[in-house]
Amino acid sequence: MFENIPCKNIVLETLNLEVQVRERTILQNISLQVASGEILGIIGPSGAGKSTLLRCFNRLSELTPGLRVRGEVRLMGSSIYAPELDVNVLRARVGMLFQEPVVFPVDIRENVLFGARRLRKLSKGEQDELVESKLREVALWEEVRDRLKQPAAKLSVGQQQRLCLARTLAVRPEVLLMDEPTSALDPRSTSAIEELLLEMKSRHSIVLVTHNLRQARQISDRVAVVCLRNGVGQIVEQGESAAVFNAPSAPEFRDYLGQASGM
Ligand SMILES: Nc1ncnc2c1ncn2[C@@H]1O[C@H](COP(=O)(O)OP(=O)(O)OP(=O)(O)O)[C@@H](O)[C@H]1O
Ligand SMILES: [Mg+2]
Repeated sequence: MFENIPCKNIVLETLNLEVQVRERTILQNISLQVASGEILGIIGPSGAGKSTLLRCFNRLSELTPGLRVRGEVRLMGSSIYAPELDVNVLRARVGMLFQEPVVFPVDIRENVLFGARRLRKLSKGEQDELVESKLREVALWEEVRDRLKQPAAKLSVGQQQRLCLARTLAVRPEVLLMDEPTSALDPRSTSAIEELLLEMKSRHSIVLVTHNLRQARQISDRVAVVCLRNGVGQIVEQGESAAVFNAPSAPEFRDYLGQASGM
C-alpha cells in the first residue's frame, strides 16, 4: 500500500525494501516517503520489524550480522548505497535517538560536542555557542548551565534523553530517526520531548517509531502501520494520521488497535 505525497519535498523514501536475516524474510514490499517538515509515525505490534526498518534508513542495519537489505533507500533523491557516499556522513545526515538514552561517560558539554567535533573543526567560541544553542533548543540549558562540567550520567533519564537529542542536533541532521524515544520517560518528560518534536519538525524531518498510539495520533502528520502478514512485516496501511486512525481498514491494524485499547 503506497500513496505518493503530492506537491511536497521528499527527503527520505524507500522503494520495495526487503529485509532478510539469513533465510528468513522480516520485512517486504516497504515503500514509503517522508516529506520535509513532517513527522512520519511508524506503528504496529511488537516484532513486526519497526526497529529493523528504522535501522535501514541510515545503514545501521549493516552492523547486524546476517542481515540483508534489498530495494532502494533514497535521501534527497540519491541512493544511500551510492559508492561515493561516506557512511559516517550519512549517519550524521540521518541521526538517531534510541529508547534508552545513550549518554557517553564524559561531562555534559562534551556529550553535546561529541559528534559535531568529529565532523567539523570548531573554535572554543564556536563550541561554547553550539553547546548553549543546542541545549537551549532541547529546553535543557536553564537546568544544566551551571554544571556543564559534571558527568552526564548524573542527569535524570528525561534530561539524558534531551541531552542525546542535543548531541544529535549538533551534527545538523536532515532526518531524525526515533525508536520509542519516550517509552522510558515519565509523562512530564514525554510531553517535553513531544513539544520539542513538534517545534523541530520544520527544520528536520522526523521518523518516529512508537507504541504510544495517543502520541502517534497527536504528533504524526502521517503514519505507516507495519504489521505481520503471512509472518512477514509489511505496511498494511499508511496515510494522514487522522484518516488512518478514524477509519482503520486493514484487519491486522484493527486487531492491533483492539489489543492496544485493552491494555
Ligand atoms: N539480528 C537479528 N537476528 C535474527 N532476527 C532478528 C534480528 N533482528 C531482528 N530480528 C527479528 O526481526 C523481527 C522484527 O524485529 P524488530 O525488533 O524490528 O521489531 P519491532 O517491530 O521493533 O518490535 P518492538 O515493537 O518489540 O520493538 C523479529 O522477529 C526479530 O526477532
Ligand atoms: Mg523495536
